[in-house]
Amino acid sequence: MACFKGCFGNRPPVDVKRRRPSAYGVITDLDIKDGKTRNALNIKLQMEITEVLSEATYGLTPEGVDSSHYEAQDFFAFKEILGSGATGVVFRAVFKPSGQVFAVKFIPNFRQIKVMVIRELTVLKFSSLCKYLIGFHSHFRVDTNMYFVMELCEGGTLEDLLEPKHLMPPKLARIYLKEISSALFFLHRMRIVHRDVYLANCLLTSTAHLKLCDFGLCRTVDDPQGEMMTDCGKPWIRAPEMYLDKPCSFGIDWWSVGILLYRFITGCNPFNCDKLTQGYQSVTKLKEKYPEWLFTDKDALDLCQKLLIKEPKRRLCAENEIHDIKVHIAILTS
Ligand SMILES: Nc1ncnc2c1ncn2[C@@H]1O[C@H](COP(=O)(O)OP(=O)(O)O)[C@@H](O)[C@H]1O
Ligand SMILES: [Mg+2]
Repeated sequence: MACFKGCFGNRPPVDVKRRRPSAYGVITDLDIKDGKTRNALNIKLQMEITEVLSEATYGLTPEGVDSSHYEAQDFFAFKEILGSGATGVVFRAVFKPSGQVFAVKFIPNFRQIKVMVIRELTVLKFSSLCKYLIGFHSHFRVDTNMYFVMELCEGGTLEDLLEPKHLMPPKLARIYLKEISSALFFLHRMRIVHRDVYLANCLLTSTAHLKLCDFGLCRTVDDPQGEMMTDCGKPWIRAPEMYLDKPCSFGIDWWSVGILLYRFITGCNPFNCDKLTQGYQSVTKLKEKYPEWLFTDKDALDLCQKLLIKEPKRRLCAENEIHDIKVHIAILTS
């Protein structure tokens, strides 16, 4: 029996080729399943998978035979790699008993990053309730490896869609801004801050709608005035308060949205910082610059400037985020 162990770092037992991002042409208007149908479907599939895989995880079969020799490939046919990051590799995978296709995130030696894995799982368990967060079906463990079975997003990520230095068409930028904001309203209402909002964590469905993924850095915020947090997230999306070791709150996610919006409308990042030391200098000390031609799009410019206010208490969304951001998005999309 083929063994999945050790696939991380070695050649995976599958035909590895990166997905092509979807073209603008595939976008149709709001072809999203209604929440009820999707949840019913999720629950059914989740039960089905959990039932079959519990045998693999806990070594129990109906006959009472120890089946600890089961491997993930006994249940899933792993196809191409969809992407990878700091915690794991995500495969397109077919669930053999039903033929259904999922995205399966493989996290090797998960105990070494147990806190992140638990954080991610906690959020995944209710993420299907919001249509702009990635849907979750089940998780299972084989030895020291963890697998998250998630809804497959066939359109790649915003990073795939946006070629370097390319702008996002304004209409599309507005739709994505609205969808990211909806995902964040949902998380923030549960008092959860995402802390890793950037292009590669914004997935696109087959109809090119957005779903936020990767909840490994999520954490709860009990004091809306802000709490001390350990530094995390990519240097170019980190908010100034994080660099300055000041209390952080939901505003750090809105700062990242400001960075995304700037990227959409200008084609580049506002602060030049691949490294943390550069980031500290530019994010905390420099003011972002806007190209002259952007001054004609006053609404987008205004929103971007307000999201990129360095002082979190003055940043848009500091007082009443839902009201403030919704008003601005409404102006942008009107
Ligand atoms: N459900 C999914 N459908 C399609 N691709 C996905 C899915 N989840 C993740 N990916 C791809 O895998 C990459 C890494 O996944 P992510 O959850 O962000 O892992 P990490 O925590 O290691 O960054 C993403 O940037 C994306 O390209
Ligand atoms: Mg990621």
